[in-house]
Amino acid sequence: MKQRMKNMLPILLIVFCQQAVMTQAWGTLGHEIVGNLAWYRLSDPAKTWVNETLHVKTETAANGNPKDIDDPTMTPLGKVADWADAVRHYLGWSSPLHFIDVRDDLIPGGCLVASDDCKFIYERDCVNDVCVAGAILNYTKQLLSSKPSPNHRHHQELLPLLRGGGLKSSRLEKGYNLTQALMFLTHFIGDIHQPLHASRTTDKGGNDFHVHFSLPDEGENTKLHHEQPAYYQNTNKHHHSWNLHSVWDSAMIEVVLGRNYNHSRHLMEQDLFHTSLLFDSASSSQDSNDASTCNIGINATCVIAWGKESFDLALQYAYVESDNVTQVSTGSTLDELYYESRLPIIKQQLILGGMRLAETIEAIVANQKAPSKILEVRKALGLATLR
Ligand SMILES: *[C@@H]1O[C@H](CO)[C@@H](O)[C@H](O)[C@H]1NC(C)=O
Ligand SMILES: *[C@@H]1O[C@H](CO)[C@@H](O)[C@H](O)[C@H]1NC(C)=O
Ligand SMILES: *[C@@H]1O[C@H](CO)[C@@H](O)[C@H](O)[C@H]1NC(C)=O
Ligand SMILES: *[C@@H]1O[C@H](CO)[C@@H](O)[C@H](O)[C@H]1NC(C)=O
Ligand SMILES: *[C@@H]1O[C@H](CO)[C@@H](O)[C@H](O)[C@H]1NC(C)=O
Ligand SMILES: *[C@@H]1O[C@H](CO)[C@@H](O)[C@H](O)[C@H]1NC(C)=O
Repeated sequence: MKQRMKNMLPILLIVFCQQAVMTQAWGTLGHEIVGNLAWYRLSDPAKTWVNETLHVKTETAANGNPKDIDDPTMTPLGKVADWADAVRHYLGWSSPLHFIDVRDDLIPGGCLVASDDCKFIYERDCVNDVCVAGAILNYTKQLLSSKPSPNHRHHQELLPLLRGGGLKSSRLEKGYNLTQALMFLTHFIGDIHQPLHASRTTDKGGNDFHVHFSLPDEGENTKLHHEQPAYYQNTNKHHHSWNLHSVWDSAMIEVVLGRNYNHSRHLMEQDLFHTSLLFDSASSSQDSNDASTCNIGINATCVIAWGKESFDLALQYAYVESDNVTQVSTGSTLDELYYESRLPIIKQQLILGGMRLAETIEAIVANQKAPSKILEVRKALGLATLR
């Protein structure tokens, strides 16, 4: 037995390494795109706040180049966007914060189409705030009530005063780790925009459906132009078995990246960023109570609307085959038509995730409460009002 285990070790290692590479490469893309898109839309003060909150290293090396940057197309928000998945297994409590389970198990006949019961209902589907919508509100609240950064100039001026004057209020000593709060927020605003992260309990957001999804990464045109060796064609085709959830988490994004963007995440981000500018002009002319323009994650009404939107998209697009009638189940084939007709939904959700993360961060920076005691002290000392 011992001998056998010994012989198996190299094989186990190979299997383990392959899995590690796979989980790292897939699923992170969508989150990175949302983080990077949000960064491109931020104002300078908001970028400064993000850098301070994440403790981003901005020193430069002797040659004048920024230190600690391995990928120049990766922004500070993109870089931390997948942290919450990486810690999910050892911060076990955070696991149920990545999704919304709409309780279709409580509804006679289940939820095949949207109805009054078949929609995201916060009180029923997010008990004790434990779901991705509750988590977004949790972390925006923490960031909003945070003290101004200790690096902040007027705060530093006040430090001796605070030490001497017994003004160590609980707010200044607050136990939340704001770096983590912002990393969670970045990830969860991405998650709530993936339709199958706000979907049915009974099939675990599509995880229970094993489906065939086998589209080549390269478009037809690319394939005509260069002959590839057989092994390359193999690695370039998604010939594995997938579950429905992972098709939406990663497989379709991998395919569009290969076909339309020369496998470059950055090219795709640039394209989506330009499209997001069209959304801006379209939404400014609409009713401001429209859910599609309700973009601020410190407002519970908006965050709940994002979850409802995602569930509707899941029922309408993710859970039905390309005939738009047949329910996806184990054994379903998700064909070219499915991919083509669902791709615009994926792009829209990545864009909305980026826009809403940016607007949420701007709102936090604009609304952050300055500690009122400091304000009083400054007033008493005749110092200028903080801004
Ligand atoms: C934030 O950090 C990034 C990465 O180091 C840097 O490129 C950027 O200039 C910083 N932005 C601000 C506004 O501090
Ligand atoms: C809120 O954030 C804290 C700190 O990370 C965490 O312990 C708690 O579980 C979170 N609750 C929800 C509902 O997100
Ligand atoms: C906050 O969390 C980050 C990421 O987990 C960690 O690196 C950092 O040390 C934590 N800060 C404090 C003050 O615990
Ligand atoms: C695609 O990317 C490769 C490197 O990843 C580059 O060599 C090639 O020129 C790119 N092709 C196009 C059409 O941009
Ligand atoms: C939250 O957003 C909704 C929808 O846009 C709006 O009607 C409501 O006034 C907002 N609430 C707050 C407190 O801003
Ligand atoms: C199903 O719906 C999609 C998106 O609305 C549409 O593009 C596609 O043509 C429809 N398929 C059929 C077979 O009607």
